[in-house]
Amino acid sequence: MNVLLIGGGGREHALARALAESPSLAKLYAAPGNPGIFELAEQAGIDASDHKAVLDFCRSQAIDLLVIGPEQPLADGLADAARREGIAVFGPDQAAARLESSKTFAKEFMARHNIPTAAFRRFTAAERQAAQEYLQSHSMPVVLKADGLAAGKGVIVCATRDEALQALDRMFDGMFGAAGNTVVVEEFMEGEEASVFAICDGNDCALLASAQDHKQAYDNDRGPNTGGMGAYAPAPIVDATMMADIRSRIIEPVLNGMKQEGYPFVGCLFCGLMIAEGEARVVEFNVRFGDPEAQVVLAVLRADFARLLSSAARGALDHSAIDSPAEGSACCVVLASEGYPAAYEKGKVINGLREAANEDAYVFHAGTASVNGSIVSNGGRVLGVCGQAPVLEEAVNNAYRAAERIEFAGKSYRRDIGAKGIRRLEGRQRVEGD
Ligand code: AMP
Ligand code: GLY
Repeated sequence: MNVLLIGGGGREHALARALAESPSLAKLYAAPGNPGIFELAEQAGIDASDHKAVLDFCRSQAIDLLVIGPEQPLADGLADAARREGIAVFGPDQAAARLESSKTFAKEFMARHNIPTAAFRRFTAAERQAAQEYLQSHSMPVVLKADGLAAGKGVIVCATRDEALQALDRMFDGMFGAAGNTVVVEEFMEGEEASVFAICDGNDCALLASAQDHKQAYDNDRGPNTGGMGAYAPAPIVDATMMADIRSRIIEPVLNGMKQEGYPFVGCLFCGLMIAEGEARVVEFNVRFGDPEAQVVLAVLRADFARLLSSAARGALDHSAIDSPAEGSACCVVLASEGYPAAYEKGKVINGLREAANEDAYVFHAGTASVNGSIVSNGGRVLGVCGQAPVLEEAVNNAYRAAERIEFAGKSYRRDIGAKGIRRLEGRQRVEGD
């Protein structure tokens, strides 16, 4: 089949790799893509935000499947537009994408369908005073969330009441633009975070490996929040019992609820979870793969990925497309530009890409550009170096060994990606050895 992939980050490079390795793939195109993706896919040469251009390309190149990587085009209704033209799309319609694009929608949906999550109240800008009064009596810490899409940055965890009142004012005063016109005030959940990914066809789902992201910029989960500094899969905290529980208490109720309410969910349902005392509660939903979670979740997946996504897009999920959701372990270390997530410089020449790429590691491009035959940095998150091995510790070592071979001015990365998972596995071995 012919596939058009929309997006141009590390996640889309991972999607491109999994699609390119699919026996059922004929031709892969990407827009806007990136230099790493273009080693696997042909440049579509269209403006991916121009829906008409995307649809025209699909018709003229006999595209059998449109795969939409990022959240913005989904929230903008690209999937709706393509479905109206009879094009098979992997990715939810605009109404279903509200699980990510509106925190209020997601929280109220979870309340309607008894899906476990933190208690919450929502306030519009006109209800600022009521929100302030609510915060006066709320326990601390408390979490404030801008309702709309804010590039992963619309959440503020506040330790004190003063911090919370200030954050509320900043949100209503426009720090996240229109996304903050409505604010969700949420109970703070203790625990350890993990994510689970479900390929959904509107009715049915197939679960992929669980993963853990590392959102903070610095080691030991310190520093400002980022898009994600690294990830590993599978996450030992999500054992088989926990996975079954997440399926029955969270994912199936989402699928049934969305169908019942008239917007069946087709695409990748990303469940961000907080796990404490053996129970998972939802932190957030996303309506697409994670970045950098996709890099590791797809590295351990053994499947005909194109056939899997195409079957989901056609409403008839083909479970036989998956041989194994999690073979071995993978760890992805993000190499970022110095200064990220605040201001950083671009255009630094990257060396060592060929030396880093070997059988045990794969280098995903995230923010790169090709200039006069050189690959240069072109974003905050520049590369994702993904190690793979039968066991997590080796996967981590493979990733770091490859990461060290890559050089560019200002290269910065965390040294502790996967450490939490290794500690958990060691703890388990100790208990078993007792
Ligand atoms: P979100 O964009 O909703 O995933 O939130 C970003 C990050 O904020 C999450 O990954 C958590 O680390 C943290 N967070 C969000 N909501 C909560 C909550 N209710 N309790 C504790 N931490 C939270
Ligand atoms: N890594 C978190 C996300 O993709 O939203």
